[in-house]
Amino acid sequence: MSEKAADRPILVFDSGIGGLTVLREARVLMPDRRFVYIADDAGFPYGEWEEAALCSRIVAMFAGLIAEHNPQIAIIACNTASTLVLDDLRAAYPAVPFVGTVPAIKPAAERTSSGLVSVLATPGTVKRAYTRDLIQSFAARCHVRLVGSQNLARMAEEHIRGDHIDDEAIRAEIGPCFYERSDQRTDIVVLACTHYPFLANVFRRLAPWPVDWLDPAEAIARRALSLIEPDGTGTEPEHGDDIAIFTSGNPDFSTRRLMQGFGLATV
Ligand code: DGL
Repeated sequence: MSEKAADRPILVFDSGIGGLTVLREARVLMPDRRFVYIADDAGFPYGEWEEAALCSRIVAMFAGLIAEHNPQIAIIACNTASTLVLDDLRAAYPAVPFVGTVPAIKPAAERTSSGLVSVLATPGTVKRAYTRDLIQSFAARCHVRLVGSQNLARMAEEHIRGDHIDDEAIRAEIGPCFYERSDQRTDIVVLACTHYPFLANVFRRLAPWPVDWLDPAEAIARRALSLIEPDGTGTEPEHGDDIAIFTSGNPDFSTRRLMQGFGLATV
């Protein structure tokens, strides 16, 4: 535990590979840091878990992760988890700064011109009290439609591994985000699941009209940067030190290859 704070890794946690969309932004802003990526693929998908069971699972898992990696900061790169467990994690592990990823409802409300916003997320995230509170606190003057998708996180995993995804299946998932009211129509769709930015180009191609697809990854990375200790050396660490851990202990070949493409050694 005598390790300098800046030498300790930044832990990035998700249920699967979606957190990589946050990791890539975090790396741009913090190139001098070491990252440990954790995918709880044994629990994937989180979207349909019962809240109490998911909360206990994640809080219990962090006891081991913190003991093993001694992170300087932990980024919960998952909306489904963050909207549920942030308070419990902070209470259980007060020495670790936690950065959460929650639906970008506030920036959407600030940017919308039509006042019609959709939040595309997992079924878990759309039913959270946390999400409803965000809408009430920051978007009371907008109309916000919550669109819970049962399949998109899995489709994003398949897409990024190189599998073919049917356009019609994706169109059916994003369709409810597009709606009209009093001559206005949706102009912002919040990507409130870290898996979805992997499909952003497909969404753009299939959208019935152009909208702003809001991805909070860069904002999350900026928040993390504001909380870390300065390194002071100005030097980048040895490349190749970043690792990925899958709770199944058994990611398939295409997943390992994907991790390798992100410069993560699967251990
Ligand atoms: N990537 C996760 C999120 O941001 C959830 C995917 C899932 O496990 O259903 O919500």
